[in-house]
Amino acid sequence: MNTSTADASIFRDVRWIASPVVGGPRTSAPAPYLRKSFRLTSAPLRACLHVTALGCYQAEINGQSVHDTVFVPGWTDYRVRIPYQSYDVTNLLRGGDNALGAILGDGWYCGHIAEKDRQFYGDRPRFLARLEATLPDGQTFSLATDGSWKTTTGPILQSDLIMGESYDARLELGPWSSPAFDDSAWLPVRVEADPGVSLVAQTWPPVRRQEILPGRPCGQQNLPWAPKFHRFDLGQNITGRLRISVRGKRGTTLSLVHAEVLNPDGSLYTENLRSARATDHYTLRGGDAETWEPRFTFHGFRYAEIRWQGQSDDLEILSVEGIVLHSDTPRTGHFSCSHPLLNQLTHNILWGQKGNFLEVPTDCPQRDERLGWTGDAQVFIRTATFFMDVHGFFRKWLQDMRDAQGTAGDIPPVIPHTGSFGLPGDGGPAWADAAFICPWTIYQRYGDLDILRDHYDCMARYMAYLEKEKVLGFIRCHPEKDGWGGFGDWLALDGSGRIDGGTPKDLIGTAFYAHNADILAQTAKLLDHSDDASRWRALHQNIVQAFRNRFVTPDGLIAAGTQTAYVLALHFHLVPEVVRSVTARQLVRLIELNGWKLGTGFVGTPYLLHVLEATGHLDVAYRLLEQEAFPSWLFPVKNGATTIWERWDGWTPEKGFQDKGMNSFNHYAYGAVGDWMVSTVAGLEAAAPGYKEILFKPRPGGSLTHAEARLHTPHGETAIRWELKDQTLQLQLTVPQGTMATLSLPPGWSASKTSLEPGTHALQAVKG
Ligand code: BGC
Repeated sequence: MNTSTADASIFRDVRWIASPVVGGPRTSAPAPYLRKSFRLTSAPLRACLHVTALGCYQAEINGQSVHDTVFVPGWTDYRVRIPYQSYDVTNLLRGGDNALGAILGDGWYCGHIAEKDRQFYGDRPRFLARLEATLPDGQTFSLATDGSWKTTTGPILQSDLIMGESYDARLELGPWSSPAFDDSAWLPVRVEADPGVSLVAQTWPPVRRQEILPGRPCGQQNLPWAPKFHRFDLGQNITGRLRISVRGKRGTTLSLVHAEVLNPDGSLYTENLRSARATDHYTLRGGDAETWEPRFTFHGFRYAEIRWQGQSDDLEILSVEGIVLHSDTPRTGHFSCSHPLLNQLTHNILWGQKGNFLEVPTDCPQRDERLGWTGDAQVFIRTATFFMDVHGFFRKWLQDMRDAQGTAGDIPPVIPHTGSFGLPGDGGPAWADAAFICPWTIYQRYGDLDILRDHYDCMARYMAYLEKEKVLGFIRCHPEKDGWGGFGDWLALDGSGRIDGGTPKDLIGTAFYAHNADILAQTAKLLDHSDDASRWRALHQNIVQAFRNRFVTPDGLIAAGTQTAYVLALHFHLVPEVVRSVTARQLVRLIELNGWKLGTGFVGTPYLLHVLEATGHLDVAYRLLEQEAFPSWLFPVKNGATTIWERWDGWTPEKGFQDKGMNSFNHYAYGAVGDWMVSTVAGLEAAAPGYKEILFKPRPGGSLTHAEARLHTPHGETAIRWELKDQTLQLQLTVPQGTMATLSLPPGWSASKTSLEPGTHALQAVKG
């Protein structure tokens, strides 16, 4: 159904309504059903339903669902802004009796968020709607939520994003949103106070069901004295939920338990879910086959068990399917090459994105976390913009970020800010700096200058905050300045044994501080703030100088012997040009000393291969990319991963599973290598904002004999394919209309032309 947007003034005088039934911080309440019958003198010419909820809604008219979207109205900081949707409902209405209704789920508004108790934003879900119809006689009909609506509860006994959903089919209400339904036993709704928060039309992609994967049986238990179970494998770690079809005895309750991986004995490994119950319950109505999919919850899982008590022949499981949910960000990019494990890695990166782009860019979809972690988002954003169109998705999240910015200018570590885990107000280096990297990347990839315009003040305010609170002599997170030094090089395996790695926090902080100043100087120039531009440029130079004084020896060594320290110094151009090659060679030495393996964490990993290639060490970059031994990108792939693991050592043969307190198997951060595979292995890069100019920069290496990348840009499809054949490089290049492209060949290679007009080109490059 089409959605259109309308001005929020349509909600003037409309009342928020809710059920009188309410849960507590630890106890949930059944999902309320709300309804209202009304008459239309004739079928409308046009009709629009404007609707929102605090919580999630499923709206119905005359027994039919109004929308195919899930978890609407979505997640923002409801204390600051509440999104709403507008649906064209002309075809759902008719002359005569009609009914409009909604089911409300707790969602982020009053269900559990991360590790927190329920009711973070409010105590119960609320609903707000206005229906407007134009009738053939020119009259307008309008209906809005008010005290005359009726409410009851039904089969959804609990609906919680973290804990799961419980549904008792014996309590189904029948055709509750049909006009003829008798609601005389329903209660009057409670009219709630207006929260006094701005309502904004949703302009970003909503969550939808995206794919359906069949669940295949992979184990069962039929012992007479124990609960029965049937175990299923979707073959893919997903974010979503199950849809089951079963036949069985009335009153039998099934528990649907979800897990990402299996223990060595084949049982579900659920310890890493922490306090997330991630379990749904379904009580059978009995009789014919019954099909059920929860409505207001999701889980991160590949395996599931359907458990129940009773005789094993009491239950027939007819089908089990995995419903994949994520924000509706259409697929735009494809990468493949001659290396099957790298193709599986690409698959895993893409599924990491699918699994974690749900309303906000989350860290993981399974445990009691699922928060909009700023660091993870900035680490992955370049890769994300290739695989899917995430323009609208990030526009929305960057608005959330502006909403979350503290009065002092601080940017929190998670957005929307929930104050989870006692987290500080400032996200710290590489986390809060998402405020610079994300809008800058969106500008580069989609040519959207407005995103920089909208975000400029936020960036400038953050820099002022740093200057005041975190910086001493242009060094950020200076140990002699009190305060939070950030998450460090999170989950690095650099030999320090620390969860935040051994790279000093002032080094990381200052490197990103310089990068921020550089982005701001470029942004100010683009926005014609020339005074500001010079100010930020001067600041950048001062930071670079301070970095050199503190962390770079005259010979070009870095005063911290971690790969990440070298990677940052090189990637952000913080070492003098004359010693750059020395710095790079030392990085290679560190990698060699580590057995030709990486040791970087969240902070260094995205830039590692870029830096090696840019400093003439493509061979080392490929060595790391193709490394199959632990730690490496291909180690999880070799061990059956279908998504990117949170930790290099999420599981190892020697130690088994990592600490259950932090061991997600669907965290996209290390998938940031996708950006290098596309831009350097295949060789496709935006040379001007929005791919107005394209750079083809293939860098064959390692054992690869061919690679290709295709991308749907705002101008049309661009593509590169290369193949090494008889000492030549065969190239096929597609340049969209209205753009131009440049071909940059590896050193020592040449081709008949390097400047390419729109169209498709077949070229041959030769050495010498
Ligand atoms: C999250 C991360 C996040 C980190 C901060 C973790 O609990 O899952 O991905 O960036 O905390 O250090």
